[in-house]
Amino acid sequence: MQAANDSRTEADDPYAVMSYYYDTFAAVSSTAAQTAPHASAFLSFAKPGDRVVDLGAGTGSTALPLAELGCTVHAAEPSRSMRSVLLSKLAARPQLHPRLTVTDLDVPFPEADYAMLAGVLQCLSPHRCRELLTRVVDCLRPGGLVALDMVGHEPVCSSPLTRVAEARAGRCGYEMWVESAPLAGPAGRQRIEYRQYLDGKLLTSEAVVRSVYVHTRQEVHAELTGLGFTVLVPPETSDLPVDFVIARRD
Ligand SMILES: C[S@@+](CC[C@H](N)C(=O)[O-])C[C@H]1O[C@@H](n2cnc3c(N)ncnc32)[C@H](O)[C@@H]1O
Repeated sequence: MQAANDSRTEADDPYAVMSYYYDTFAAVSSTAAQTAPHASAFLSFAKPGDRVVDLGAGTGSTALPLAELGCTVHAAEPSRSMRSVLLSKLAARPQLHPRLTVTDLDVPFPEADYAMLAGVLQCLSPHRCRELLTRVVDCLRPGGLVALDMVGHEPVCSSPLTRVAEARAGRCGYEMWVESAPLAGPAGRQRIEYRQYLDGKLLTSEAVVRSVYVHTRQEVHAELTGLGFTVLVPPETSDLPVDFVIARRD
């Protein structure tokens, strides 16, 4: 476990920049912001009283509604900046304080009925993915569920800088621009640029470069099966989004 003094720098964390804009763009385009486009799919597997671990909980797009539903939620999020946004939202919801715990990723997870990775797979190298799923199997009770999205995404292609979303707040306009390039293997490099305007004039522009990973459905199923899960619902025969996987711990 990491010591109380967090030695990671903002440079290690692309979400140190992204957190500032995350909810602004999530509100107008969940796809562009790369927030969980399927929050309702994740919520549909939870019921009041469930103990849930939300891995990579971000600014709380699933953790807050789960707590509102009556679940006891452990939101584990490695980015300090993302956690700070979530904590601010939590501060305004005192009724949720007894049920929503927010920590870094490095603390032990409590026993859970349900674990989720919403919008997170893109951030995980194959090694990190196995590490995280191993921690999931260790915290889930037998019969507990794990849900993931972003399974089987297309390989990263080369694409020029393109505006993918815009938003307004008062006199300010915001734009999100993305360019990407493939890397060796099923991974890519993505540069995300955020521009802020005041009365139409460019005020600030800042960019972040990060690696993104692609995990095929076969790889994710094999990983889960190897760790002692039974994959439950093939999305083609259900109402679930096509990039969604749900599995039960044996
Ligand atoms: C696209 S955001 C999704 C946030 C939230 N789950 C949602 O759906 O809005 C991806 C999140 O994964 C987190 N993340 C990055 N690396 C991670 C890792 N190794 N394990 C867990 N989460 C990670 C990021 O900090 C970020 O908050």
